[in-house]
Amino acid sequence: MKILAIETSCDETAAAIVEDGRKILSNVVYSQIEEHKKFGGVVPEIASRRHSENILEVVKKALSEADCTLDGIDAFAVTYAPGLIGALLVGVSFAKGLALSLKKPLIPVHHIAGHIASNYLVPDSDGIIPEPPFLCLAASGGHSHIIEVLEYTKFRIIGRTHDDAAGEAFDKAARVLGFPYPGGVHIDKAALTGNPEAYSLPRPKIQGSRYDFSFSGLKTAVINIVHNAEQKGEEINKNDMAASFQSAVAEILTDKTISAAKEYGYSKIALAGGVSANSGVRKLFGQECRKNGFRLYMPPLSLCGDNAAMIGCQAYYDFLSGKRADESLNAFASLSLEDLA
Ligand code: KG4
Ligand code: ZN
Repeated sequence: MKILAIETSCDETAAAIVEDGRKILSNVVYSQIEEHKKFGGVVPEIASRRHSENILEVVKKALSEADCTLDGIDAFAVTYAPGLIGALLVGVSFAKGLALSLKKPLIPVHHIAGHIASNYLVPDSDGIIPEPPFLCLAASGGHSHIIEVLEYTKFRIIGRTHDDAAGEAFDKAARVLGFPYPGGVHIDKAALTGNPEAYSLPRPKIQGSRYDFSFSGLKTAVINIVHNAEQKGEEINKNDMAASFQSAVAEILTDKTISAAKEYGYSKIALAGGVSANSGVRKLFGQECRKNGFRLYMPPLSLCGDNAAMIGCQAYYDFLSGKRADESLNAFASLSLEDLA
């Protein structure tokens, strides 16, 4: 079964064709980052306008790279939540038009479920693809969740952030260090040659679930150190600060996810979302999972960020479970994974 999937929840206009939830026939991502960079973050109205201008070309490219025509597509899928509402609506309206005019099924996909599904697309070094149940850390620019993936289409969130998402904290810390948006990848690069013990940064204490996150204190600590140094006319070693910050985030994410896996009895852990591309996070998870006897799955770097292949993969499982949308499909800026019909 060939699914043409569309993803426009933030600043990537993406389309992909995925066969049977496994085989990526094409995966086209048009990034708008260069344009949003000037503003230090994504400008929602610009994002919607660029999606609107580019979506047809991106879909055509996905078809031609897969050597496929619309006749060869069995169903259409689209990210309908969560994300920037105007951006989501472009993809939803476009996919609806395709599905209705061609009289083919339309499958609405949750963005975070898509990120989790990026783990099903490429086998690990032992040739294994994870199957639920497993525990997943989904950490992106908008979310930091520890999720029980009970079935392909059934999720329970056992940890969430009380303030900033992990990716957001990376981007804000990067900004104060003078790196361009989005800063996560720049922190990652700078950290490679920095000393992670150079700056002592706080580990948050949180009321509520042991598996909830808080990153705002850590971010504020970085901002305060940088500003204090500036006032005293002292230099901050950017690489050392990047390494110290990254190792704090990696430690928090890893500790909580591993503790949750132990308490809830999972032996398989998966990572998902933009922050799962971080080399420090990947390395620490690798070490801790080995030490504790957990099997770790991580999407390849090319599938960590937003893309439509992950949406096409999740759509396959949603389709098998009977999920369909009609012409009344709407987009939602926020919708919990636990509330999926
Ligand atoms: O999943 P994603 O592409 O979009 C959302 O759904 O939000 O995640 C984007 C986030 C950004 O905050 C970006 O800085 C972060 O993921 N990110 C990274 C790295 N690559 C992307 N953070 C740390 N290290 C990286 N290598
Ligand atoms: Zn995302």
